[in-house]
This record gives sequence, C-alpha cells and structure tokens, in this order.
Amino acid sequence: MNTNRVILLITIIVLLLLGCNSPLYNDEETTYSIIPNPVSVKVQDGNFSLNNSTQILALGKDVLPLAKMFADELNNFIGIDLKVIEKNVRYSKNTIIFKIDTASLGILGPEGYKLQVTPKKIIVLAPKSQGLFYGFQSLLQLLPIINNSSNCKFSNKEIDRNEWKIPCLDILDYPRFEWRGLMLDVSRHFFSKEFVKQYIDELSKYKFNIFHLHLSDDQGWRIQIDSFPRLTEIGAWRVPRTGKWWSFQPPQPSEKATYGGFYTKDDIKEIVQYAQERFVTVVPELDIPGHSLAAIAAYPHLSCTKGNYKVNPGSRFYGVDNNTLCVGQETTFEFLDKVFSEVADLFPSEYIHVGGDECFKDFWETCNFCMKRMEENGLSNTDELQSYLMKRVEIILKEKGKRLIGWDEILEGGLSPEATVMSWRGIDGGIKAAKMGHHVIMTPNYHTYLDLYQGDHIIEPETYSLLRLENCYNFDLVPPNVNEEYILGGQGNLWTESVPNSRHAEYMTWPRALALSEVFWSPNEKREWNDFIRRMEVRFNYFDKNEINYARSVFDAIISGIKGTDDSLKVKLRTEISGLDIHYTFDETNPDKFSPKYEDVPIDIPKGASQIKVRTYRTNQPIGNQINFPLSMLDQRIESD
Ligand code: ACM
Ligand code: ZN
Repeated sequence: MNTNRVILLITIIVLLLLGCNSPLYNDEETTYSIIPNPVSVKVQDGNFSLNNSTQILALGKDVLPLAKMFADELNNFIGIDLKVIEKNVRYSKNTIIFKIDTASLGILGPEGYKLQVTPKKIIVLAPKSQGLFYGFQSLLQLLPIINNSSNCKFSNKEIDRNEWKIPCLDILDYPRFEWRGLMLDVSRHFFSKEFVKQYIDELSKYKFNIFHLHLSDDQGWRIQIDSFPRLTEIGAWRVPRTGKWWSFQPPQPSEKATYGGFYTKDDIKEIVQYAQERFVTVVPELDIPGHSLAAIAAYPHLSCTKGNYKVNPGSRFYGVDNNTLCVGQETTFEFLDKVFSEVADLFPSEYIHVGGDECFKDFWETCNFCMKRMEENGLSNTDELQSYLMKRVEIILKEKGKRLIGWDEILEGGLSPEATVMSWRGIDGGIKAAKMGHHVIMTPNYHTYLDLYQGDHIIEPETYSLLRLENCYNFDLVPPNVNEEYILGGQGNLWTESVPNSRHAEYMTWPRALALSEVFWSPNEKREWNDFIRRMEVRFNYFDKNEINYARSVFDAIISGIKGTDDSLKVKLRTEISGLDIHYTFDETNPDKFSPKYEDVPIDIPKGASQIKVRTYRTNQPIGNQINFPLSMLDQRIESD
C-alpha cells in the first residue's frame, strides 16, 4: 500500500470511531464551530454534560423569556425538556445560567456577551438581553446533536441514555458592525407570513439584526394600507406566469390577475413581534418614485401619464408602461404622507427605506406638472427633481419620528440632509456619502447580492451575474480612507425575480448569508477562509437535519478558458475550496474517480470534443455537482494567465 492509501485508511477508521461523517480536523479546531466566528475563544480542558437533570437558571430582569426560548430550542432539537428556574439559589452542579450583568456594558457593548463553559456549569452573561440571545445562539452551535450530521449514530430519542458534551471554553464576543442585514424582496414573488417568520428565525441564529422587507415594486404591493385599499385589491395581484423572468408574456386584455398576496396589518404586527423576540428589526421599504407600477396600476393618477397599466408579471415594460410617480402633483405627496404614516405606525424601526433606485425619469420630461415643479424650484435636471421628492419625503418621515434610507441613486441630484445611503452599485456611492458625513450601509452587488448565480450558470436557474461564496467572504465593508464611524454595516439582498418559491429563497440565501454574517460581525483577524469552510460544513449538517435548503455550489469545479501562445484554447479548472480533486472527461461519458484528474495545468482540448464533463471529489467520494460544459462557450470565459 502506498502512503496515501495508508492515510486514507486511517482517516476512514477515525471517522468510523467518531461515528459521524464529518471531515477530519485537529482536536483544537473541532471543539467549536460557531458562525459568525466570535471575537475571542479560549478552549479549555473538559466538557459540560448536558442531560435530563440539567437545569436552566434565569437571573435578571427580562431573562426568563429568553431562558425559556433556549429551553424550547433544546426541546425542538433534541427532545429534552429542561426545567427553567428563576430563584437565585446556590448554583448547583449541571446548570446553565443566563445572567444580565449591566456592569459589562463597557467591555461588551450593547450586543456583546460572555459565554463560559466549565464542567460544572455554563454561564451566559451580557449587559442586555440582546447579548444573552447571541450567547444562546453560540451555545446552541456548540451542541453536538445540533451540529452533527443526520447519519450520526445517535437519534434524538437517545438523549435519555446519552449525555451531550459541550466543550469547555471561554468566549468573549461582540459585533464589528451594528447593521447586519438581510433583505427579502416579497414583491417580485410573494412569500407567506409563515415563511417570512421562519426566515427571520434562521437569520437571527447568525446574529443578523436587520430584516429589510422590500414591500413594493412593479410586480406587487404587499402591505395593507387602509387609506388606499386598491393598493392591495389591485396592486397585490398579477397575471400568473411561469418560466423565465423578463421573457413572460405581458398581461392580456381579459386575463384575470390571480397571482400574488399581501400582508394584513395583523400579519405585519405578528412578523414585527416575532422578529423583536429575536432582536431583529424589520425595516420596511416602499420603493419610490420608480419601481411603482403596482401602486400606479391601483391609482393611475399617481403617474404623469395616468395610463391604465397592469401590475407587471415579469415581462419587459420599461419606457412603455409608466412605473414612476409624478413629482409635479401635490396628490403624490398627499398619498405618500398617508401611506408612510400608516407604515410608520406599524414598524418600530427607526428607519424607513424609500427606495430611489433605477428611476425611469423620461415621463417627467414631458409632464407639465413636473416641468412646472422644476421651474418653480430652480431644478436644472430630473435627478434634482428626484432629490426634491426625497427631501420632502424625508420631512414627511421626520414628522413621524423616522429616518430615511435610500439606494445610492438618491445621491445623484443632491442628498437629503440626514439620509442614510445603501450603496448597491458598488461601493462608490457609499464612499461619497460617508465623505459627506452621512451614514452608509454597504451592499455592493458584487459582494452581497444573493439573487446572483453562486455556481456555474450552466447548472443553475437563470439569473443575472455571478457572486460566488468566496466573493461574499472576501469583502471588507470599510474601504481605505473612509472613516469607519460612518459605515453602519452591511446587508445581503435577496431579490426574487428568479426566486419563485421559498425553497429556492433558502437555496440562494445559504451558505452565502453565513459568509456575510461573519463579514458583518467578526473582526478581520478572525476571518479565515479555510476555517470558515470547516464551520460552514458543520452548518450544512444542521441544514440537512432541519430540511433547510442550501447550495453546495462551493464544492463545484470552476471552468474557464486560457489562450495558449499559439492561440489555441485550453481548459482551466479550479475550485473555491482546497482539498478537492477534479475529474473530467471529454468523451461524453460521466466522470468518476477513475477519470483523468486535473493536475493544475490547463488542458488541451482533444480534436472533436464538444463538451467537458467535470466533477469534484473529496477522499474519493463525489462532492460537487457534475457540470457538463459545452466547449463552444469556452471563449466567453477566457481568463488571462
Ligand atoms: C437595486 O438593486 N435596484 C437596488
Ligand atoms: Zn409628472
């Protein structure tokens, strides 16, 4: 036997002894795998044993609901019903203590926590409940039963006979950024209240604290507004279409709009409260003055042209149907005042997002009202007209005790005085706004847009461009020469043009949101790609067990072309993560571990070959998706050496 085979054999024996299908890592590393990576972890000797006689002690004001939530989670995950007590008894053995310690505010900040696991007890300590919640999330991620794969030898029911070991350690942890957001677009496709709650529950496990709800767009208005009932009677519904977004047939004259939905005010209250219990703030967005076709379909007088438009089902309409609010007419501002008033009453969030992106301004140029408005206010172009609107909307929001956030286009005609900017077309808008002394949330599309491809587009549902996991992870929110003080944080955005159902929403979110959670929470020195991948794979076990969908694209091969000196094309293969083998064929057969292995040297294309088929392997097991790549497309992805 050669050395490699001996190593492999030993590996297999060790894995069998461990009883789980987890990859092999050294002991120190396997003791914890928390995402996002905490600021400081000191691993100690020994374990705490969680068993039926473990009790949970809640110390301090408002701690009891959290301790009960923790007990419920344990019950859900492992079917163990632990007693929660409140009395300040002498700490008996085998206790998990949740404790508010206001004196630690200076060290930990408002969201920080300390978690100490010793053989006798576990203490989660924080200055505020939010920190305790994060401590409890980290503690859950330390539980082997939650982390191990479903083919681990123990079943949940066996808790009666087993003690669950939690490694002894000391964690001190707090976030790098205060805005750690995820956005879900519920306009392009509607997602049920139940799914939204489940989504919030999941994102709170990785210490996201902002859930941005994109509630209106050209394809649907999703929130009940009592002053304008047609917004949901008409605006929430469109004709049903399936297939490829942007190539759908427009609504036909007699066709019924049956696809859609909206949240009632009670639904919104339920979502907001559910999020609050998990220390997540729901930030509502109504996207104006562009992206407003659903509102205009309901109330045509809101547009310059007052046409009889239909809610868009995903067909091309720009420049034909008018999806832009008229800024010239006062009725638009009366509408916005009433709508934002109802929205402000429903959402405790300090911020309301007003969109401002991709506004199609041509109709303004031919509108007498808009032209008059520009003249009267000395506005020299339509960008300034948009800014005029945003400045008035900022005043409307301020009257209701709220602050304005908009996409970076709100910079174009002059920024409203106190606006916060969400920088999505790269980071330049964010840099500019920060230099002007405005707060910024960094959401550049090429690092944070979760609607983009995460693997080879050949095997993924159609969408726009590419954002691999590595590009989510390799992101620093603070550009050079920008004062970090102005960067509130970052956000991942899940636009849903090509996300027609909740399973696919999960697939697009995970694991990229895991990477972003670490970008937003952990200090740079605690971010290390290989270690992140190890911890991510532990979360994959959790996803499997809990039937949460996620993408395994990070295991796939990446195919590109290289031009040889004689102008011939060669195929270059690589993977995002290390330790994988890539096997390939050119002869139409499906590759397996006996097929040629890529050896880091671009390969010549045999004469007559029409495709390359590739698949990744780890320790001789297939791990990635097979990709059948037509070589006719290779010249579209030429890399320079
Ligand atoms: C955006 O992606 N249009 C903000
Ligand atoms: Zn107008």
